[in-house]
Amino acid sequence: MKRLEGKTALITGAARGIGLAFARAYVAEGARVAIADIDLARAQAAADQIGDAAIAVKLDVSDQASIDAGVAETVDRLGQIDILINNAAIFTAAPIAEITRADYDRAFAINVSGCLFTMQAVAQHMIDRGIRGNIINMASQAGRRGESLVAVYCATKAAVISLTQSAGLNLIQHGINVNAIAPGVVDGEHWDGVDAFFAKHENKAPGQKKKEVGNAVPFGRMGTADDLTGMAIFLASAEAEYIVAQTYNVDGGNWMS
Ligand SMILES: NC(=O)c1ccc[n+]([C@@H]2O[C@H](COP(=O)([O-])OP(=O)(O)OC[C@H]3O[C@@H](n4cnc5c(N)ncnc54)[C@H](O)[C@@H]3O)[C@@H](O)[C@H]2O)c1
Repeated sequence: MKRLEGKTALITGAARGIGLAFARAYVAEGARVAIADIDLARAQAAADQIGDAAIAVKLDVSDQASIDAGVAETVDRLGQIDILINNAAIFTAAPIAEITRADYDRAFAINVSGCLFTMQAVAQHMIDRGIRGNIINMASQAGRRGESLVAVYCATKAAVISLTQSAGLNLIQHGINVNAIAPGVVDGEHWDGVDAFFAKHENKAPGQKKKEVGNAVPFGRMGTADDLTGMAIFLASAEAEYIVAQTYNVDGGNWMS
């Protein structure tokens, strides 16, 4: 028996990277998924590649009307939402003296408000329908401690850990289980951007920062998106029923907590 047979999942930011790996893994476990992303063309290409069990939905998590429309479209096309993965986020980095209000506001609008209000919209749907659902928020090792050049992104991910705790405690009375995953360093397009930033700010050759962070992981390499799928399946499964409001590190040993 597949672990997510008959379940439906809405995954934000799933057109590429970790969210796309989650979508593929969920379908392999028997779920149907909505690949919800601000980039509809790429979400559609991903859904087409996965097949009939995946649909593409336009959803900008920083826009309330878009959240409401994306959730409504997913319910309309998949019937209901049993699992939400709040995965959409952007990376931003700058020395403290160079942080702009515009960058700060954008990062918090997507990474924090986006997480909270998508969670709220889907939780309301679950409460209205009496669905004992699962919500998984994507935090980060960046939310466990500050980093010299990454203040705003770190703060957004600390906020995701905190929101997971409060929402987990508040929603469990409805049978809605909220937990989070804190990845370490995961190779892909996200980290291509991080590497380019550090190449500029620390005068490194392209690819050098990735090598350094990979070598520093106790496991011995950067993570891949597929390294995270086991935890995403487990947290949405019946086996994780008694796990509430927690954030799990999946990071090759980078962080202890
Ligand atoms: N890659 C890593 O090393 C790493 C480490 C820790 C945590 N994370 C977290 O994991 C999650 C996925 O990371 P990734 O590496 O796959 O990122 P990514 O940048 O490759 O993908 C992010 C996706 O989110 C989408 N997106 C951006 N803004 C959006 C918006 N406003 N509304 C909807 N979708 C939007 C993008 O179009 C893209 O498809 C993020 O929450 C990220 O912070 C990543």
